[in-house]
Amino acid sequence: MRLLFATSEVFPLIKTGGLADISGALPTALFAAGLDIRIVLPAYRGILAKCQSPHLLGSLSVFADIRCDIYQTVLPGTHVPLLLIDYPPLYDREGGPYHHPQHGDWEDNPLRFGLLSKVTALLALPNALQDWQPDIVHCNDWQTGLIPYYLRQLGSTAKSVFSIHNLAFQGNFHADWRYRLTLDEQDFKPEGYEFYGHVSFMKAGLYFADALSTVSPTYAREIQTDQFGFGFQGLLQHRSADLTGILNGIDTHVWNPATDSYLPVHYHIQKLSAKKEVKHALQTELGLTPNAHTPLLGVVSRLTYQKGLDMLAAIAHELLEQDCQLVVLGSGEQALEQRFQSLMQQYPGQVSVTIGYHEPLSHRIMAGADIFVMPSRFEPCGLNQLYGLRYGTIPVVANTGGLADSIQGGEITADGRMPTTMTGFIMPQHNPWTLLVTLRQALTVFANSGQWQQLQKQAMQQDVSWETRTKRYLALYQQLL
Ligand code: ADP
Ligand code: GLC
Repeated sequence: MRLLFATSEVFPLIKTGGLADISGALPTALFAAGLDIRIVLPAYRGILAKCQSPHLLGSLSVFADIRCDIYQTVLPGTHVPLLLIDYPPLYDREGGPYHHPQHGDWEDNPLRFGLLSKVTALLALPNALQDWQPDIVHCNDWQTGLIPYYLRQLGSTAKSVFSIHNLAFQGNFHADWRYRLTLDEQDFKPEGYEFYGHVSFMKAGLYFADALSTVSPTYAREIQTDQFGFGFQGLLQHRSADLTGILNGIDTHVWNPATDSYLPVHYHIQKLSAKKEVKHALQTELGLTPNAHTPLLGVVSRLTYQKGLDMLAAIAHELLEQDCQLVVLGSGEQALEQRFQSLMQQYPGQVSVTIGYHEPLSHRIMAGADIFVMPSRFEPCGLNQLYGLRYGTIPVVANTGGLADSIQGGEITADGRMPTTMTGFIMPQHNPWTLLVTLRQALTVFANSGQWQQLQKQAMQQDVSWETRTKRYLALYQQLL
């Protein structure tokens, strides 16, 4: 079986969130399982230089006025073949993959990701550039949503899987884009790529793909409801027989407290005491009062509505009256950034806030914190809670999406026994007060070091690797052939 995996971000080359982690780890695991796979990605600024001797496969004429070069290399640190679309006018830019340096979206994003979609579909045709033709094209999120549409338009025999990583980002653009992107007029309708008068990349993926998947079983159910469907619930109900939820795994080599190169000291399940040294170093690094007994709460996140961290800000004063510390790393909505920054000023030595994106610090927080906080309003999968399990940093999570599927809560009895399945704390309802109550429960257990260690061990024993998940994807691909 040959698989072409299309994505707009992939770790370690370019990352804005969990999609990059998955786009690196899943193909690597599939490749290790013997699949003949290639990843396709835009060559954003600096990417070609970061890859080992990329060689030019040839060039493709994509839209009437666009001809781009395709390079082949491997994903750094792996042997997984990687195809890069080189078209400097659209991709060689300062800033992120979706935003210009001053925050806003690139205005030509429809063309930038229309190009990614069209090139991928062209690469699936016989003898496009090389004697390698995929049986399956795996598309990820709206940036690749037009692929299933173009595959049909071009008469490709390849089957398509469209994975939803986040239904909130839909790629809906002005209707006129259909001309620029050469989408057929007759498909600009509800049974097509049209969504409330717009050209919708997400809609095209959901409507035209042969199979749909998302990143947890609970989110697969949730997106068929009015509350979580973002307007697509009807279509998703209609396609529910074609929709599967497969929980994400993590790259257990990149995320391993026993070898993590960003940590000053390493630890593992038999040597948990060394985690305290990582905590001490982190407290010192961030200007927090170094104290092993003070519970340290960690957050590494986009600071957006989805993540529910405004609830944490709302209860912060009550929480911080207790002996605990808070470390936040993230960026996003300015108002929330400012709320956290002012907490840092009000609680010197107790609160540390870093606004920005910082890969090494994110690992040190994951390892040095005791508790990881994720009160998301919705969470397709979430990766940090999985990293938390792996690092013995106990997750306190909302009861939604992949959080509900990966974390097991439980009651601790008066005589101190806990269910052997317990791996974290789940908020039974979604409001600031419940978050406070749930965090206090976690702090109470933390105060009993025997119980806490037991909980850490239960968390660290969870299988968060890709191995079992990979089998589910292989079965999904197989079904389509
Ligand atoms: P989402 O993709 O919705 O943002 P996930 O939990 O799936 O959420 O993945 C987020 C990924 O991005 C994790 O690997 C997390 O560590 C990382 N991340 C988020 N914010 C930051 C940040 N400010 N600095 C470093 N890493 C971050
Ligand atoms: C999205 C989701 C997140 C998920 C990630 C990878 O960014 O918001 O929950 O873990 O994709 O699938």
